[in-house]
Amino acid sequence: MLKINNLHAYYGKSHVLHGVDFEVHPGEIVALLGRNGSGRSTTAKAIMGLVHWEGSLDWKGQSLTGKKAYEVAHLGVGYVPESRDVFPNLTVHQNLLLGQKGKGKSSRWGFDDMYAMFPRLKERQHTEAGVMSGGEQQMLTLCRTLMGDPDLIIIDEPTEGLAPKIVELVGEYLKKIKDRGVSVLLIEQKLTIAMNISDRALVMGHGHIVFDGTPASLRANEKVRKEWLEV
Ligand SMILES: Nc1ncnc2c1ncn2[C@@H]1O[C@H](COP(=O)(O)OP(=O)(O)OP(=O)(O)O)[C@@H](O)[C@H]1O
Ligand SMILES: [Mg+2]
Repeated sequence: MLKINNLHAYYGKSHVLHGVDFEVHPGEIVALLGRNGSGRSTTAKAIMGLVHWEGSLDWKGQSLTGKKAYEVAHLGVGYVPESRDVFPNLTVHQNLLLGQKGKGKSSRWGFDDMYAMFPRLKERQHTEAGVMSGGEQQMLTLCRTLMGDPDLIIIDEPTEGLAPKIVELVGEYLKKIKDRGVSVLLIEQKLTIAMNISDRALVMGHGHIVFDGTPASLRANEKVRKEWLEV
């Protein structure tokens, strides 16, 4: 469904991705792991057309060359960036409304789904998003993205800075999302949730993929873990 071939990306003159190759298939949760600075977020930004890139990026058989972020989103790719991305002066409900697909279009998700999955957001539906905790804003960003009914959601370090109990919850939400047929590209540094919920794990090092296999095979591969993941 998403096919990435020989992807290079640049910030000005700085060449950050050096030939990234991988695929995400329908209904899969794929973890993109790696240390700080390995290029995981840049890969997400390239898919969304937010950095200069070269190579080939195909989504459902269509090239993403030249596409802007909103166009990629319209094609069904949801993106939850590292920086929690809420409208701080709007309420939770208004934030969700802004994520909604065009009127009259059917969607996998509605307000009730979001409020059932995240009761905390229901309690706070009339609260301004900007006063909520980081974890709550993260949930809201995820929900707003889901309201646009993506077929793939790219989520960048959703568990960063969250308490272990909440990290577990994030894993459960991602499984629920997958159960509705949405693919997930989960960018993470921590192995725990990634290993528990992923169908496949990718490891990135110095701007390319150094491992692509099942979580079990990554667990068994001490060399890759030592060289590219553990600190
Ligand atoms: N806006 C930017 N301008 C210049 N260089 C950048 C920019 N953003 C990232 N980089 C560089 O690109 C490389 C890859 O960064 P990237 O953000 O993709 O890493 P990452 O794997 O997401 O790690 P982390 O999120 O932990 O920093 C790093 O060397 C980083 O310093
Ligand atoms: Mg990052």
